[in-house]
Amino acid sequence: MADSSAQPIAKYRSDYQAPDYTIENVSLEFDLDATATKVVAVSTVVRQAKEISDLVLDGEKLELLSISVNQQAHQAYKLSDGQLIISDLPERFELKIETQLNPKENKAFEGLYQSGEAFCTQCEAEGFRRITYFLDRPDVLATYTTKIIADKAQYPFLLSNGNKVDQGDLANGKHWVSWQDPFPKPSYLFALVAGDFDLLEDSFVTQSGRTIALELFVDKGNLDRTEHAMASLKEAMRWDEQRFGLEYDLDIYMIVAVDFFNMGAMENKGLNVFNSKYVLANKQSATDNDFLGIEAVIGHEYFHNWTGNRITCRDWFQLSLKEGLTVFRDQEFSSDLGSRAVNRIKNVRLLRSHQFAEDAGPMAHPIRPDKVIEMNNFYTLTVYEKGAEVIRMLHTLLGEQGFQAGMKTYVDRHDGQAVTCDDFVNAMQDASGKDLSLFKRWYSQSGTPVLKVQTHYDQNKQQFSLTIAQHTPATAEQEDKQALHIPVSIELLASDGSSLALQVNEESVSSVLELTETEQTWLFEGIGEQPTLVMLQEFSAPVKLEMDYSSEQLLLIINNASNTFARWDGMQKLVSIWMKQAVAQVQAGNNLQLEEAIVNTFKLLSEDSAIDKGLLAELLTISSENEIADGFADVDIDAIAQARDFFIRSLALALPEQFVALEQACAKADKQSLAHEDINLRSLRAACLQYVAYSQPELVAAAYFDSPTMTNKLAAMSAANNADIEQRAAMFRDYEQNWQHDGLVMDKWFALEASYAKEGSLARVQALAEHPSFSMENPNRVRSLVGSFANNNARHFHAKDGSGYRYLGEILRVLNTQNPQVASRLITPLIQTVKLDAERKALIVEQLQVLAELEDLSKDLFEKVTNGLQQLQA
Ligand code: TRP
Ligand code: ZN
Repeated sequence: MADSSAQPIAKYRSDYQAPDYTIENVSLEFDLDATATKVVAVSTVVRQAKEISDLVLDGEKLELLSISVNQQAHQAYKLSDGQLIISDLPERFELKIETQLNPKENKAFEGLYQSGEAFCTQCEAEGFRRITYFLDRPDVLATYTTKIIADKAQYPFLLSNGNKVDQGDLANGKHWVSWQDPFPKPSYLFALVAGDFDLLEDSFVTQSGRTIALELFVDKGNLDRTEHAMASLKEAMRWDEQRFGLEYDLDIYMIVAVDFFNMGAMENKGLNVFNSKYVLANKQSATDNDFLGIEAVIGHEYFHNWTGNRITCRDWFQLSLKEGLTVFRDQEFSSDLGSRAVNRIKNVRLLRSHQFAEDAGPMAHPIRPDKVIEMNNFYTLTVYEKGAEVIRMLHTLLGEQGFQAGMKTYVDRHDGQAVTCDDFVNAMQDASGKDLSLFKRWYSQSGTPVLKVQTHYDQNKQQFSLTIAQHTPATAEQEDKQALHIPVSIELLASDGSSLALQVNEESVSSVLELTETEQTWLFEGIGEQPTLVMLQEFSAPVKLEMDYSSEQLLLIINNASNTFARWDGMQKLVSIWMKQAVAQVQAGNNLQLEEAIVNTFKLLSEDSAIDKGLLAELLTISSENEIADGFADVDIDAIAQARDFFIRSLALALPEQFVALEQACAKADKQSLAHEDINLRSLRAACLQYVAYSQPELVAAAYFDSPTMTNKLAAMSAANNADIEQRAAMFRDYEQNWQHDGLVMDKWFALEASYAKEGSLARVQALAEHPSFSMENPNRVRSLVGSFANNNARHFHAKDGSGYRYLGEILRVLNTQNPQVASRLITPLIQTVKLDAERKALIVEQLQVLAELEDLSKDLFEKVTNGLQQLQA
């Protein structure tokens, strides 16, 4: 933003005002054309404010053709940047607005655009204003009727929200369809799709006996990749009835998969639009993780029908009202259907590797932000994942019954309304009788709390005392922090690994301690021996822990904790103690050595035939560089990478027979189904292949060439990538030859190529941008290639000559104009860098300054670049 007068303006949560007008219903008519689509919007507008006032409508990138009020051409209006201001209005009137759009030129994929040959829309958060002038805010709930007109041969399917009410043919080869959605909704839930697709049809009978038509639309030729998405949808519908008592409302549920989409998927009422990545899968083209991702995202969008659509957000600051809650629901769905422990571990890994970094970075914000420049920048790990953790803490404090009672109160009170996070917590409080006034602070305070733990055992009194102090470090946007209401779930282990009863005054007490003050002490009685304390069972709160553990204590926890997550977490602590020491050794120029105790732990685990295979896979997987970095106040990229490489290689060479035996046993036992036992066997095999690659690389090549499924092939490729084995080239060439016609499948290949840390990385990534399967216009491709390089190839992205930063800077300048949303997500690894050394920070500042000077810098990048510079230069 060179011109300072044009600087984007921030909006504040505290400035909320109810709208002066509302729109009761709107009838839309689209005459679709690639470069000149006409939209006629006829709305019933009603004044809410007591005083006479202008009607201020949002609108962007629109050509205004006409305005009329009560069928009369209306002249009293002004067009200013992003707004249409209409004056001289009665209290209630019919407003007709005609606009024209150019979907073909729309490469930002917000509003109406073309994905391949089809038309589709994306309106959340503020995209509807690119379709027509409107009160484009979530607290204006209207009923919609939509008529779509288009060429019949090119666009046989014309879809919108609700029920199809009429259709017909027109002259000149066109046809039309009209849709009516009986449920009042905010504009961000509007959707339209037009195109030619393959259609998978099915149906679902609800608990009350209604039959719902299910329709899944995909690009022609992809029908053999739709079965899993449809099965997941039916699972989700059943699960929401059984666990939450929530039933679907319309008579039809449609999902359309498109290749060009900025995010995962979108919950538009009755007509979800999905990134094809979260729909298309069969065993040849998709991994188990892809299948699980589809199940989770299909579930997520379906669950929004109640938590988001029937009950929506009053304003966008309340986004976590629907997202935190819906992520919690989709996590529970995945956990009920599959492995609860593995799901919990994966969610916590994501939180620690990325959400904690967001909290420590320049874009830190509470799960309910206070200040926003570009709303699209707040679809974050904090709002989604930490938001889900906050809901999970409520669930822990209230129990399943109390929580479900709260949900029922919430739905009964607020169905059909646009509400706030406070409304949600109040419903939970009123239904359960639990005081949640302090708990609400989780919504307004950002940052990751740190718990300091001190214990004392008194042999004579047989008492164990536990003192927990909490403190939250200042974040970029919020200096002062206060105490939070934190559920801390604990266990005390005896030296034989058994669990000790928690007693106070001779009565047993809950294992969930409620920390509400800066420091609190608990005294447990009747403890016959010095116990080992297991903290944060099931990761009961999104916090960091400062506590000293001996290796012996950690081994006791790894082998005996009742909670599976706690066992895995014990392993993380053990490895991280070693990593810290190793990084210091690397920095001091000393040789590294892997401790006998660690090798032994891995040996015993690899020989343990009783342990759950899914858990074992997680235990054997070494934390990523990003996760390790979270444990350091100053991050030394190269030392972390070296220490981690050394750890994996030494372990592989210390226990070659063990890893090979386990890998082979998994391969043999795998019946190649999607059942969870088989998924677990394949993840364990994948974990082993990472080690096997160092001792018997030919087995990795065999796993690639002999496996019929993508899961094994990709596991082998990843192992080959990390260990850089000779066979790697042949495997990657084979994959490229088999799949270069299919961009979605090539994404996995691009991602691995970009994270291949061998020297010359950047040049390879730059060359791959010219690959026939690559396209800068497709967000999935960009994320796979550029995103993987910046996020998962730290050594080269953070190269000391600044080449990685310069490369990302160039990409961002292209995307800034073409697709600001994608640019803004891609910039993260360039701004979450405050823990790096001074030389690297200086190189980053240079790149951020170049961006800051751009004439046409998007609001999205403006907000992040400004905050990034501020933190780095502070
Ligand atoms: N509401 C969507 C979800 O949680 C997220 C989403 C899809 C989105 N597309 C978007 C958010 C575009 C912002 C912009 O599933
Ligand atoms: Zn969502």
